[in-house]
Amino acid sequence: MKKRIAVLPGDGIGPEVMEGAVDVLKAIGRWFGHHFEIEYGAIGGDAIDRFGTPLPEETVKLCKESDAVLLGAVGGPKWDTVPVEIRPEKGLLAIRKELDLYANLRPIKTYDSLVDASPLKKEIVDGVDFVIVRELTGGLYFGKPSGRKGDNAEIAVDTLIYEKHEIQRVVEKAFALAQKRKKKLTSVDKANVLESSRMWREVVNEVAPKYPDVTVEHMLVDVAAMKLMYQPKQFDVIVTENMFGDILSDEASMITGSLGMLPSASLRTDTFGLYEPVHGSAPDIAGQGKANPLAMILSVAMMLRHSFGLQEEAEMVEMAIQEVLNAGYRTGDLWNLGRGVVVGTQEMSQLVFDRLEADHALSSILAAYL
Ligand code: IPM
Ligand code: MN
Repeated sequence: MKKRIAVLPGDGIGPEVMEGAVDVLKAIGRWFGHHFEIEYGAIGGDAIDRFGTPLPEETVKLCKESDAVLLGAVGGPKWDTVPVEIRPEKGLLAIRKELDLYANLRPIKTYDSLVDASPLKKEIVDGVDFVIVRELTGGLYFGKPSGRKGDNAEIAVDTLIYEKHEIQRVVEKAFALAQKRKKKLTSVDKANVLESSRMWREVVNEVAPKYPDVTVEHMLVDVAAMKLMYQPKQFDVIVTENMFGDILSDEASMITGSLGMLPSASLRTDTFGLYEPVHGSAPDIAGQGKANPLAMILSVAMMLRHSFGLQEEAEMVEMAIQEVLNAGYRTGDLWNLGRGVVVGTQEMSQLVFDRLEADHALSSILAAYL
């Protein structure tokens, strides 16, 4: 298989976590005979520093000419003073919009060896396995008007706007995903207050008959925030608008023990996708070699599966991560109980790589005997 992958490391811990992820990707290519052509591009603060804009034209072109994109993280205090139109985050929002990546999948899965790392009780987090499907190119993040007005700029406005088709397409994705999983869809909104949420509900009910085997429930976002802490096992697929999805996914990350564990896939209707950790650029620990690279490496696995259909390769990466965690290795973010061996970013990436290499060698030996 031949694929072109755009790699945008970005800011803060982005470049650090990207290194190990790219090594994993290259090794998978070598072992399985795939030709992965990797090209680097600039985004966020890094792009502001080098090109004066958070999303240079060349980066957009590179992404459009690629089969998938890997993105680290953007933002940091260094760019707090740049004009709002060119903040690092604008680069991320613009690339999502430019590539029409309307469905953001954020899987929340507990690892057996990490149940103790969650601040929640073991009985609550054990066996949790659901996916948040976050609408990614509409809602409050993109609605116009947006900005300041009034003589002294004393009025601030953001607009929550959705067109019906924008809801339809992400809801369809969520139904299709639920159908392949435990066949339960929870649509999260604020229909007791917001008109856009009432339309969201309507659309979900209109699409539902096409997926008769999927059970649908509607849940208000405040209730969902509470249920995520109290009964997270009841969820299979959650579908929700952009801002709610952003907030709920950070909350849900604590079920797994750390935001440093969550990968994500931003998809559209074809196989193209952008893959990035749910976490941000973590400027407080950037450059210290402490960041957890697992969300980034898991994002590579999601890319192999969703964009390239490489199921076996994706599982191999996920399995290697599980084995490293089972062996007791932890980055600092997962070490709240003082159990296991604390390792840094590079060591963690190397451990996953070594594990993969060993698994690969073993399967080659087995294959030779079969
Ligand atoms: C995320 C991030 C971004 C978002 C920021 C960095 C703009 O928090 O991907 O969840 O809000 O979408
Ligand atoms: Mn977020």
